[in-house]
Amino acid sequence: MEGTLLKKLYSPEAFNALGNTVVDVLTEHLDRTVNQVNSKPIHWTPLEEEVRFWEASMEDATASDFFPEILRRTTHTHHPKYVGHQVAATAPITALTGMVSSLLNNGMAVYEMGMAPSAIERIVIDRICKQIGYAGDSGGFLTSGGSLANLTALLSARKAIVKHDVWNEGNSCPLGIMVCEESHYCVDRAAKIMGLGEKGIIKIPAAQDFSMDVSMLEEYFNKATSEGIEVFAIIGSAPSTATGAYDNLQEIGQFARQKNIWFHVDGAHGGAAIYSKKYKALLQGIENADSVVIDGHKMLLMPTITTALLFKNKAHAQNTFSQQADYLLVENQEDVWYQSGKMTFECTKTMMCLHWFVLLKNYGEQLFDEYVTRQYDLAQSFAKLLKDDPRFELATPPQSNILCFRWIVPEKSNKELNQLNAAIRQQLLEDGEFYIVQTQLRGIHYLRTSLMNPFTTLEHLEHLLEKIAKIAQHK
Ligand SMILES: Cc1ncc(COP(=O)(O)O)c(C=O)c1O
Repeated sequence: MEGTLLKKLYSPEAFNALGNTVVDVLTEHLDRTVNQVNSKPIHWTPLEEEVRFWEASMEDATASDFFPEILRRTTHTHHPKYVGHQVAATAPITALTGMVSSLLNNGMAVYEMGMAPSAIERIVIDRICKQIGYAGDSGGFLTSGGSLANLTALLSARKAIVKHDVWNEGNSCPLGIMVCEESHYCVDRAAKIMGLGEKGIIKIPAAQDFSMDVSMLEEYFNKATSEGIEVFAIIGSAPSTATGAYDNLQEIGQFARQKNIWFHVDGAHGGAAIYSKKYKALLQGIENADSVVIDGHKMLLMPTITTALLFKNKAHAQNTFSQQADYLLVENQEDVWYQSGKMTFECTKTMMCLHWFVLLKNYGEQLFDEYVTRQYDLAQSFAKLLKDDPRFELATPPQSNILCFRWIVPEKSNKELNQLNAAIRQQLLEDGEFYIVQTQLRGIHYLRTSLMNPFTTLEHLEHLLEKIAKIAQHK
């Protein structure tokens, strides 16, 4: 390799030198963002300008300014005024586990290509199952994201419930799933990928508080059945994305049991409340779910992308993608939990279990309890602030750490207020002192916050409201 680019590329000395520099850059970044020293959560640039910058950079950037430049031109979840999308301000130690995973690159499809992470993943999965309240024959795996995990769970559901062998023979009769109209779009997408079509996604209307109106279940099920659709699964959102409203898992579980269909919980965001002594009642009934999705990279302080897919009966985890129609594990069939590729949609995946393991090993479940409880409490305090301020309107009382509200002016129509709130959000984005997002609910435009950052305080949020008021008064 003498004199080749490859030799240069793999130089341990060069790695060490650059690695230390990057850690220094990231340390300084962490310090500046968490402590808000000369920093903002976002330095907005229009798309075309950003592309032009990186095109020019491709030609002349040196390794030493690449990393600081990335930081200058990205969104900073560690900043306390980051109250935007649902991604974690990662625990810094998980940046290190991410680095280990990237360098070792154990693909984990088979045990030999990830012995330590396979064992570690098993331990992590067992701990999560226990926290859910599952019994001993539960199991599951980590996979690349909530969207993929929801699709995988629905494939498992179809295999378990539908009598004919769709996996091998294709779809020969109309199939369907039931889900609240407020569910995350990935459920819709999963159903479309599975060939259920529009008719196969039976959308249950939301109640006033944006959770699934469970009083409609019987009616919608009977209608679908009378149209010849075989409903094989029902999905509860815990919570749904836009408003953070939790579906009634107890009722949905009972309904699923009565109808003999699969009960899946999309807890990508708020499944993490299983760790909160104060808020776990929101998930009452989750222990009856056939499958549960929980994202580590949302409410559990981990980097993208790491998702747990848990099954009440681990036989389902292991047979989703098996070629056999009769999939249930027979007594002496081997339990292949250690061959990840047999269970997951992906063949190769990252060693994402390292993030979960270091956090649990060093801090225990107590860390997640502290974090989730703090963020959900903060949303309650923020809601009170908004309720007490006549200039603002809350979409619905928050159940999680997601909160939608808008600026109101009594004499303006909803159409005008929609335009005004959209303009406020655009100005906030361009200003960059806060990062917040927006959503439409029943035709009304709301500003939306997910209180993800463990350093955001009520004072920050008070300041946000004053800033919005100032912007609105100049519109
Ligand atoms: C309720 C819910 N389910 C699923 C997803 C998708 O998860 P991921 O982004 O990990 O694919 C999201 C993302 O926001 C979500 O809020």
